[in-house]
Amino acid sequence: MGSVEISLLADHTDAIRPLSEHFQREWPQYYGVHGPGDAVGDLRRCSGRDELPIGLVAIANGTICGTVSLKTESPSPQLWLFPWMGALYVTPDYRRQGIAARLISAAEQMAKKLGFERVFVAVGAGPNSLEQAFARRGWQPVGIYPSLFSEVKVLQKLIAD
Ligand SMILES: CC(C)(COP(=O)(O)OP(=O)(O)OC[C@H]1O[C@@H](n2cnc3c(N)ncnc32)[C@H](O)[C@@H]1OP(=O)(O)O)[C@@H](O)C(=O)NCCC(=O)NCCS
Repeated sequence: MGSVEISLLADHTDAIRPLSEHFQREWPQYYGVHGPGDAVGDLRRCSGRDELPIGLVAIANGTICGTVSLKTESPSPQLWLFPWMGALYVTPDYRRQGIAARLISAAEQMAKKLGFERVFVAVGAGPNSLEQAFARRGWQPVGIYPSLFSEVKVLQKLIAD
């Protein structure tokens, strides 16, 4: 794989439709035909540049291969924290090549640039979650909270200098 570029979703809005189809396949309970979510609408809302929510995309050899967003909405009704790192997704052919790591780091930097002191993420509460990968990057557990369909583990990272 050649170099991977991280860019604003705002500059690649043609990626919204294909990414929304990936979201529908990856999270059918939420974004599928019978789910409450609206993948195109959520991605469109993340097409801002200066105010949350803001989406980022990863581009490898001209192909959009991943995304992440920085958002205000909490995945749990019990938590009024923000900003959240959400919608972290890498297309199947590009996984395990460090692209999510690049997206996570870019989202952290963007949160810092916007003046936030910490950033939150919700990962699966089960054993195969990404928690360890986040922990290796300095993220710490906040707790386990209910979300729409299951419990999530909330992690935070302090990003202030
Ligand atoms: C999870 C996902 C974003 C990982 O993308 P990726 O580009 O393959 O990840 P990377 O190659 O950058 O790996 C980053 C770290 O995560 C770890 N990792 C990657 N996929 C993992 C998985 N499925 N489970 C646990 N850890 C995983 C890697 O081992 C790596 O760890 P290290 O660098 O600390 O050793 C991708 O598999 C995906 O889109 N999955 C479906 C959607 C999803 O689960 N999103 C996450 C919601 S929190």
